[in-house]
Amino acid sequence: MENFASQTGFTDYLAASALQQLENQCWQWSERMGYSQVRLPFVEARNLFERGVGGGTDVVEKEMFALQNTENVLRPEGTAQAMRAWLAAGGVRYGPVRWAYCGPMFRNERPQAGRFRQFQQFGCEAILMKEGTADADMLIGLNDLFVDLGIREKLVLNINTLGTTAERKRYRDALVAWLTPKASLLDATSQKRLTSNPLRIWDSKDAGTRALMMNAPRLLDFLGAESLTQWKAVTGLLDTAGISYNIDNGLMRGLDYYNGLVFEWVTFEDKAQNAVAAGGRYDGLAETIGGGSAPVPAFGFAIGLERVLACQSNVLRTERSGYFLVAMAGCDAYALQIARSYRMLGEMVVLGDVGSKLTKQVQRADKIGMRYVLIVGDAEQTNRTLTVKDLATGQQETIGFTA
Ligand code: HAM
Repeated sequence: MENFASQTGFTDYLAASALQQLENQCWQWSERMGYSQVRLPFVEARNLFERGVGGGTDVVEKEMFALQNTENVLRPEGTAQAMRAWLAAGGVRYGPVRWAYCGPMFRNERPQAGRFRQFQQFGCEAILMKEGTADADMLIGLNDLFVDLGIREKLVLNINTLGTTAERKRYRDALVAWLTPKASLLDATSQKRLTSNPLRIWDSKDAGTRALMMNAPRLLDFLGAESLTQWKAVTGLLDTAGISYNIDNGLMRGLDYYNGLVFEWVTFEDKAQNAVAAGGRYDGLAETIGGGSAPVPAFGFAIGLERVLACQSNVLRTERSGYFLVAMAGCDAYALQIARSYRMLGEMVVLGDVGSKLTKQVQRADKIGMRYVLIVGDAEQTNRTLTVKDLATGQQETIGFTA
């Protein structure tokens, strides 16, 4: 994609205003939703993620960037660190929070289209909030954010429930018992996962494994009454709000801290990396990172901002507001006076390459997505006027100028 070239997986944002605009829209949305902004460090202790995200997950086992001679890593994600920060602030004594964060995350993955080693996440975490209404509120809100961003119709919301730890264990045992006699039909990675992390077999892209998993036992059938009631309550709230979703029994998420409701917003466009946002409930995370022995109900999501931009670039050509000022040689003092007075009124003015061919300057305005051009030539300078041209319609008008 032209505005962030990335051979190494580390990104040069050469036209970052689209990213900035997206971040602004996310911040404004999170304020409307009642989230407050937190800024957390880029560096955290390795064992926070080993315990929180899980030592056997790809993110922790294979993808963390370690800092030399320390036990620290560049953060691969924001949920474990938000929980660490909340516990450090006093935890239950500090009270419930709704936090929003935005910034780079680092994963040592093999770079490809849509997959970077440094990428931007916008995320929200609601800590000390019970399952149910708050989860539905967040998902409905996210739906509306994607409508605002112009990409909702390109996304599908996949949801699943992972139940409680005990329910998941019973399911895991049943899945292993069902798969073991059929192990030779699994791909090599899934065969390894059969002993290390059997639920992740659902993530396999191998056609043979996927065909086999079509008939595998489903986690939903191992839920107790309470988990089922919660699941039905959340899906019922989504139905009432008219949010379309798809129940994906194979959606297990690659991070260990989840329980209960999990979700992914994926684009059905043909992209190698199609998850645009993901999240879920993680009531056990506080305990696994040393925050006492009681569950702390919590729920959150993170959006991959580069992936939103990739979806947007196919829907809209972003039009920049403000003016592009085109001026003939010898008119520079007058042009600068015009630019200054427009800017004092709060308008953006981008100065063209004063003195070069007017048509070339106008082409430049079009190239950078600007619609309105202010033209200053000898006649305008003499008459203290300027010409405003709308590049979208081709119409132009000459107006008077007083500083
Ligand atoms: P995640 O699924 O690992 O979840 O990442 C969330 C989103 O970040 C993905 O859906 C994707 O859009 C983006 N993303 C992940 N890896 C890359 C990459 N290498 N390059 C570009 N974009 C990427 C989490 O990180 C959880 N902390 C989400 C969460 C928050 N769960 C609860 N609260």
